Amino acid sequence: MKIGIIGTGPIGSTLAKKLGNAGHEIKVTSKSSEHELSETAKKLGVGHSSLQNIAKDVDIVIVAIPTSAIPTLPKNLFEGISDKVIVVDTSNYYPTRDGIMPVFDNQLESVWVSEQLGRPVVKAFNNLLAYSLENEGRPNAEDNRVAMAISGDDENAKKIISQLIDEVGFDAVDSGNLSESWRHQPGMPSYCTELNAKELTLALADKDEIKRQAATLRDKSMEIFISLTEPPTHEYVLNILRSLFPTNPKR
Ligand SMILES: NC(=O)c1ccc[n+]([C@@H]2O[C@H](COP(=O)([O-])OP(=O)(O)OC[C@H]3O[C@@H](n4cnc5c(N)ncnc54)[C@H](OP(=O)(O)O)[C@@H]3O)[C@@H](O)[C@H]2O)c1
Repeated sequence: MKIGIIGTGPIGSTLAKKLGNAGHEIKVTSKSSEHELSETAKKLGVGHSSLQNIAKDVDIVIVAIPTSAIPTLPKNLFEGISDKVIVVDTSNYYPTRDGIMPVFDNQLESVWVSEQLGRPVVKAFNNLLAYSLENEGRPNAEDNRVAMAISGDDENAKKIISQLIDEVGFDAVDSGNLSESWRHQPGMPSYCTELNAKELTLALADKDEIKRQAATLRDKSMEIFISLTEPPTHEYVLNILRSLFPTNPKR
C-alpha cells in the first residue's frame, strides 16, 4: 500500500522503517526544511513529500505528531482527497507536553482529532511505547505476541490497519467505535503496559468508572518520570505504568 506519515519522531520513524520493510511504499513529512526532511527520509530508507502533498496519491495517512500540533496542520490537507484514504491517529494528549487543552474535559482525544482533520480517523499505534513498537514485534506464527488496541467507526478501515499492525509484529485488538477510544488513552490499564491479546481484551473491557481516574493516573505517571534524575530503563517504565492500575492484568 502507499502510506504517507506525518511526523518523523519515534513513532513516525519506527512505523516508516517497519512498514517500508514490510513492502509498503512510504513517504514521510514533518515541519522540518526540505533538506532536513530528505536527510531523515534517506536514513529511514523511505520517500518524503511536502506536508501539503502528503495525502496525495496514498491509501493511508498516519498522523504521528503531538496533539497540540494537530490544529496547525493545513486546513485543506484532505481537500480533493478520496474518502477511501484511511486516516490513522496515533496521538496521545499529555498536558505536560501539549499544555492544558480544556476541550478534553468534554471530548475524546481522537474524536477531536477527527474534527480537526475533517475526516474519520482510526485510532491505532498509540497504546505501546515507541520502544515496544521498535523492539517487541514478533512474527505472527509466534504465540503470546504483544497486542495493540485499535478503534474506529469504519470496519473495513480497521481491518486494513489491523493487517498493518500484524505486519509490524503485534496482535490487533478491536476496542470498538471511536467513541470507545478512551479505553486505550493514557491513564488506562491498556496504555503502554505491553499486554498480550487476551490481557488487552480484558483491560479494554474495563468498567466506565476507571475512565474518571484516567487523567489523574496519566498525570501521576508523568510526575514520576519527570522527577527521575536519569533516563529510566524500558522495564522500569513498564513496571511503573503497570503498577498504577489495580486492574492491570500484569500488575
Ligand atoms: N513516543 C512514544 O512512545 C509514543 C507512543 C505512542 C503514541 N505516541 C504519540 O504519537 C504522536 C507522535 O509521537 P512521537 O513521540 O513519535 O513524536 P513527537 O515528539 O510527538 O512528534 C515529533 C514529530 O512531529 C513533527 N511535528 C510537530 N509539529 C508538526 C507540525 N505542525 N506539522 C508537521 N509535523 C509536525 C515533528 O517535526 P520535525 O521533525 O520537523 O520537528 C516531529 O517529526 C504523539 O501524539 C505521541 O503522544 C508516542
